[in-house]
Amino acid sequence: MEYRSLAATPSAPGWARRLVVETLTGWGLTCACDTMRLVVSELVTNSVNALEKVAQEMSPQTPVVRLRLTAAPAPDGSLVTVETWDQVPSPPIRRSPGAGEEHGRGLLLVEAVTTRWGWYWPARPLTDGMQWPEPRPDVTPGQIPPGAKATGKVTWAQIHHQWTPHPPQGTRTDAPTS
Ligand SMILES: Nc1ncnc2c1ncn2[C@@H]1O[C@H](COP(=O)(O)OP(=O)(O)O)[C@@H](O)[C@H]1O
Ligand SMILES: [Mg+2]
Repeated sequence: MEYRSLAATPSAPGWARRLVVETLTGWGLTCACDTMRLVVSELVTNSVNALEKVAQEMSPQTPVVRLRLTAAPAPDGSLVTVETWDQVPSPPIRRSPGAGEEHGRGLLLVEAVTTRWGWYWPARPLTDGMQWPEPRPDVTPGQIPPGAKATGKVTWAQIHHQWTPHPPQGTRTDAPTS
């Protein structure tokens, strides 16, 4: 999957979950589905919420969230990465909510179930048909670069999905060792 564009509406997380499951299943990575479904849900929900907050400053068209899923070989398995692009010029911030707080746990959850996660400012805007952009090389950490309203940002998360070898047929995995 190069990438898909989803209208940033409340149904976007559901579409994203289905796309991820379909794509991973097609790649034979069914075991990564549960984790990636959870991760994509959190990231796309965050984009939809963040876009809603900046809606007045944007064009009247429904904004989009763009979604890319990639897999690369890794020792004993695959590195599976999900990236979401949205046109919100502020970064995701992992919070540390108190026990009584209702919100602010999505990225904590993403951090807990993935190997790494992060975000970057893309080097150019992303519109349909264009290739997924590389990160901007010239950004001072912690600063929102000029032009970020046009280029948006990418939030990503990666898992190292390890193959679990099946025991040879006829082997009892619960057999006593002595
Ligand atoms: N795509 C995004 N664009 C802008 N801000 C974001 C984005 N994703 C997350 N954030 C910021 O990071 C915060 C923490 O996100 P999260 O841990 O998912 O908690 P919650 O979504 O419940 O607020 C959000 O409240 C928001 O301020
Ligand atoms: Mg969230």
